[in-house]
Amino acid sequence: MKIDIITLFPTMFTGFLSESIIGRAIKENKVEINLINLRDYTKEKHGHVDDTPFGGGAGMVLMCQPVFDCIKSLRKEDSLVIMMTPQGKTFNQEVAKELVIKNHLIILCGHYEGFDERIRSIVDLEVSIGDFVLTGGEIPAMAITDSIDGVIEKDSHEYDSYSNWMLEHPQFTKPRVYEGMEVPSVLCNGNHKEIEKYKLKESLRRTYLRRPDLLEKHELTKEEKVLLDEIIKEEKC
Ligand code: ADE
Repeated sequence: MKIDIITLFPTMFTGFLSESIIGRAIKENKVEINLINLRDYTKEKHGHVDDTPFGGGAGMVLMCQPVFDCIKSLRKEDSLVIMMTPQGKTFNQEVAKELVIKNHLIILCGHYEGFDERIRSIVDLEVSIGDFVLTGGEIPAMAITDSIDGVIEKDSHEYDSYSNWMLEHPQFTKPRVYEGMEVPSVLCNGNHKEIEKYKLKESLRRTYLRRPDLLEKHELTKEEKVLLDEIIKEEKC
């Protein structure tokens, strides 16, 4: 998969792209990530990419010309152009799974007060990472790139929150007792069947207690129904 990120602030991505799982995925050629500086595409003689809004108002608006030219030069037949904006579709794990099957993503990061409305005509999808307004699309672009990369590394995510719709069960590491708090003995007894049952039940419990809305959206298996009944009784005591 190839991800082209159009930004006015490419250095914001330096640490993000070189560290941890993203850094490894790039090294292993699982994903190719390119940073494109929007300023390189402006034809404005002072190098500007933005201007004041018609009709007045605070701040500056990204101009059509550099964005149109930049996207035109990057877009291929199988590209999906995504605009980062608080007005977009709210990003979640399902959207991440839809995006991971694409060969080529072009992510457009805004800055300043917004985009010239005509830019929307060359965009395929608008994405928001939540109901809050950031100063630019760079952090949202990192969030969705990180999440897509997580889906690529699917194995380690099989039990992670939301990947299989439930919240993740509690996790522990050494020592077995810390300041009087003990690791549940079932996790240390080596019985894999019991361990899997514990993980499923505690995932269900977390979801029931913290995100009951997720339970309503999914059809439970027979085993999950039995476990959920037990949990409801236990939590009432
Ligand atoms: N740009 C500014 N705020 C944003 C948000 N919440 N999501 C996506 N892009 C943004």
